[in-house]
Amino acid sequence: MSATLSQSAHFLDTNLPLFADLPHKVADLSPATVAFGRKEMELALHEMPGLLALREEFGDSQPLAGARIMGSLHMTIQTAVLIETLVELGAEVRWVSCNIFSTQDHAAAATVVGPEGTFDRPAGVSVYAWKGESLAEYWWCTLQALTWPNAEKGQNLILDDGGDATLLVHLGAELEEAGKNANPDDATSDEHRVILETLVAVRAEKGDNFWRPLAAQIRGVSEETTTGVHRLVERAAAGTLRFPGINVNDSVTKSKFDNVYGCRHSLVDAVNRATDTLVSGKKALVVGFGDVGKGSVDSLRGQYARVAIAEVDPICALQACMMGLDVVRIEDVVADIDIFCTATGNFNIIKVEHMLQMKHNAIVCNIGHFDNEIEMAVLEDMVKSGDVEKIEIKPQVHEWKFKNTTHGPKGGGHSIIVLAEGRLVNLGCATGHPSLVMSASFTNQVIAQIELHKDAESYGKTVTTLPKHLDEKVARLHLDKFGAKLTVLSDEQAKYIGVTPAGPYKPEHYRY
Ligand code: NAD
Ligand code: ADE
Repeated sequence: MSATLSQSAHFLDTNLPLFADLPHKVADLSPATVAFGRKEMELALHEMPGLLALREEFGDSQPLAGARIMGSLHMTIQTAVLIETLVELGAEVRWVSCNIFSTQDHAAAATVVGPEGTFDRPAGVSVYAWKGESLAEYWWCTLQALTWPNAEKGQNLILDDGGDATLLVHLGAELEEAGKNANPDDATSDEHRVILETLVAVRAEKGDNFWRPLAAQIRGVSEETTTGVHRLVERAAAGTLRFPGINVNDSVTKSKFDNVYGCRHSLVDAVNRATDTLVSGKKALVVGFGDVGKGSVDSLRGQYARVAIAEVDPICALQACMMGLDVVRIEDVVADIDIFCTATGNFNIIKVEHMLQMKHNAIVCNIGHFDNEIEMAVLEDMVKSGDVEKIEIKPQVHEWKFKNTTHGPKGGGHSIIVLAEGRLVNLGCATGHPSLVMSASFTNQVIAQIELHKDAESYGKTVTTLPKHLDEKVARLHLDKFGAKLTVLSDEQAKYIGVTPAGPYKPEHYRY
C-alpha cells in the first residue's frame, strides 16, 4: 500500500479518501505472499492452454495495443493469468474483484508486482482488491479502478463479471444526463444504498460532468456471467445500453463448461473447506437446475449425497427426472434437508420462513451470482430485533441461532450454518473453478476483448455472442491437454452433413 493518500474526503467506513490516487491497494505485498502468488500463477498457466496459445499467436502482433481495460472479475490466480495475458497482448489494465469475498490475496499481490517487478518495486497492474471487503470498500475499489490517472485516457473497454462496473458507469452518466443527484433513501438494499452513496460522494467532489466523459470513452464490455448478461440484455431492450456488449457466458465453451464442470469441482470443495462435514448420504436440495445447478448436483452426487432439485422450468425439471433426481418444492422438504444450495440467478429463493423449519445445523449456501437468493437481509434484521444470534465460526462461516424455535438441542432454538454470508460459496469458501476450466472461459474473454478493440462500433449497442468458429477454436485449443484426437471429416462426409471439413460443425440452433 504505497504512495501518499490524497486529501479528498474519506468515504463511508473505508477510512480512505474517495479518490485515493493509489497505484494499487491489496492486503499484503510481503515477499512470501508475492512468491506464493507467482508460483501458483506459473502452475496455473500450465493448466491454461487456451491463454498460452493466445500469447503465442498474438504476442508479436499486439492486437490489444491501445486497449485500456478495466476488469471487474474475481481476483483469483486464474484471473491473474488472464490479466497478464491481456498485458502480453498489449493492453493496459486496472482490476477489481466482483465479489467482496472472492479475492485470493496472493493472486492480487502477484498481479500488482507483475512478472518483472519485486515486492518493493511493483511493476505489474493496478489491482484494488482484498478478501473480506466491506460493501463500501468494494464500491470504493470499483471507483478507483475506473479512475485512471489521466482522465482523458480512461478505460476504453470493460471486462465485467456480473455487471457491477457497467452498472456504476451507467447510473452515474444517467443521473448527470437527467440533471439529478442520487438519493440514498431510495435504496432497496444495503448494497444499493452504498452504490447511491458512492454516486452522491462522487458528485460532491467532481461535479456533474464526471461520468458522462468517462462513459463516452468506453467502446464496449465483455460480460462473463449469466446474471451480468441478463442485466445487459435488459438495458439493450430498454435502449439504455451505452456501448456494445459481448456475451461471453453464452459461448458454449463458457457456460456449458465453467458453469457446469467448474461448479462440479468447486461446490463440494467449498462445503468441505467451510464445514468438514460428511456430504455422503446426506440429503441435499439444489434450487435451480440450469447450468450451474447441473454442475452443483453432480458435485454433491459425486460424494453420494442424496440430491433433489427444485425448478420452475418444466424442461429442466424433466431433465432432472431423467437423471434420477427427485423434483420437489422447497416447502415440502425443508425440514428434511441437510444441505441447501441455490443456483437460480433469481431472488428470494430461501426465505426466513424456510429457515425457521430447517433441521438443526442445516447447511445453507448459494452458488448464484448475488446474495439475495437467500433472504440474508431479513436474517440480519432479526439479529437487530433480538430473534436471532449470529455467531462467527470462522470468516465466511456463520451459525445463525434462532432463539424462538423449539426443535434445537434440548428443545431450545435451532441453528443453521450459512456459508459466505449467502454470497457465491465456491469463491467465498474455496478458490472457485480450477484453471483448466477457467482457461476456456478466459480464452473467450480475451478473444472478445480483441474483437471489441478491433471493431466495437460495428456491433451497435447490442449484446452479441462470439461466432461459432471461435467457440470451436477455444475448444480445439484445449484438446491436446487431454490427449484427445479429433477425427477429420472427409470432403464427401462434410458435404453429406452440410458443413465444411474445417467447421463450424453445427448449425446455429444446435444446443449441445
Ligand atoms: P440458468 O439460467 O442456466 O439456470 C438457472 C435456473 O434456475 C433456470 O433453469 C431457472 O428455470 C431456475 N429458476 C429460476 N427461478 C427459480 C425459482 N424461483 N425456483 C427454482 N428454480 C428457478 O443460469 P446458470 O448459468 O445456471 O447461472 C445461475 C447463477 O449462477 C447466475 O447468477 C450466474 O451468474 C451464476 N454463476 C455462478 C458461477 C459460480 O462460479 N458460482 C458460475 C457461473 C454462473
Ligand atoms: N469464477 C468461478 N471460478 C473462478 C476462478 N477460479 N477465477 C475467476 N472467476 C471464477
